Amino acid sequence: MPRPGMGKDNRVSTESVSTGVASTGGSAVAARAQVAQPDEPAEPAEPQAVVAPLTKAAIFLVAVVNTDAASEAAARSLCADLAGLVRAVGFRDLDGHLTCVTGFGAAAWDRLTGLPRPSGLHPFREIRANGRNAVSTPGDLLFHIRATRMDLCFELAGQVMTRLAGAATIVDEVHGFIYFDERDLLGFVDGTENPTGQAAARAAIIGAEEPAYSGGSYVIVQKYLHDLDGWNALPVEEQEKIIGRTKLSDIELDDAVKPTRAHNALTTITVDGVEVKIVRDNMAFGHVGTGEFGTYFIGYARTAASTEQMLENMFIGSPPGNYDRILDFSRAVTGSLFFVPSQDLLDEIDQLDLPGAARRDQHAREEPGGTGALNIGSLRGDA
Ligand code: HEM
Repeated sequence: MPRPGMGKDNRVSTESVSTGVASTGGSAVAARAQVAQPDEPAEPAEPQAVVAPLTKAAIFLVAVVNTDAASEAAARSLCADLAGLVRAVGFRDLDGHLTCVTGFGAAAWDRLTGLPRPSGLHPFREIRANGRNAVSTPGDLLFHIRATRMDLCFELAGQVMTRLAGAATIVDEVHGFIYFDERDLLGFVDGTENPTGQAAARAAIIGAEEPAYSGGSYVIVQKYLHDLDGWNALPVEEQEKIIGRTKLSDIELDDAVKPTRAHNALTTITVDGVEVKIVRDNMAFGHVGTGEFGTYFIGYARTAASTEQMLENMFIGSPPGNYDRILDFSRAVTGSLFFVPSQDLLDEIDQLDLPGAARRDQHAREEPGGTGALNIGSLRGDA
């Protein structure tokens, strides 16, 4: 089965094997890429901690990496070292279940990996519909840090920043918490219909449909600010019809009373008659002093299209105009799509040859004294 650097199409395969992972010598991914035969099933790539148990605390860091080579090298080196950092910080309290998922925006993927873009990775597609805007905001790297204790998240976020100092700017930082019994700040239990266990992995982790990136995932994040005064002025029965569940007991409304515009109706989508799930881990956040109250939405899926379809249903409506009334009381102020490579690929990311590096290499070979051979596939100028 092809892996990153061993894509299913031959062009990608040869090019990446010579300019990508396989040229890095002793690495694990490279070694597998070199020994795998075309029809031989490769061992499945290990995913990052996408399908981690929901936790009480999280920090969401969205970074934009400077465009110079040293900054890009620092970002790649951090990504490759993240597993070690999580082990180091997390070992101080194993019951804290510290994890970090790292995602790459479309432009950053090209710049930092040089690998072909995963099929669903593109800049977040903005939606504008009658004043309801799903805005698209910058983001090269997403760090989704989760633990049962905020101090673990905070320490890891600090370690990440130490490594990124001078190389990247944090364009959004949210410290999220779970409000009482798994509720968001609208007062509803959030996460009930999340798939768990193997169903969660089936929903969020790429498999054979995109073999080069199996073990990966797509993630969309949006930071929503709520008009809590307006929301709390609504009768609870109205709020329940907007969400599609009862507020206190969190029971799904009967179809006979649930409007087709209810949040859980618009975000229930099917493909060929089968319901498509995503894995969410929304967190509440806020600043009482400035009256900022919000929900940080994060949704992992094995295709970006599922979450994008849900967003269209919410913002445009299904049918158009039958939109999600949460949006009458909530405004999205950020929006980004990231690709989350498998843990195996993340660990090796600093060893991938970049297109710029490949070009420089090729240039050197074309210069007087060079071998004159292109450093691509069978044209590689090995003696
Ligand atoms: C202001 C932001 C949001 C809030 C406060 C919110 C809140 C909720 C709540 C309370 C539920 C019901 C309990 C549950 O099953 O989790 C729910 C369900 C759900 N939400 Fe959201 N949500 C938000 C944004 C989104 C977005 C942007 C998406 C997808 C693009 C989404 C997708 C879903 C899905 C798939 C379900 C489960 C539907 C089902 O199977 O019943 N949510 N959300």
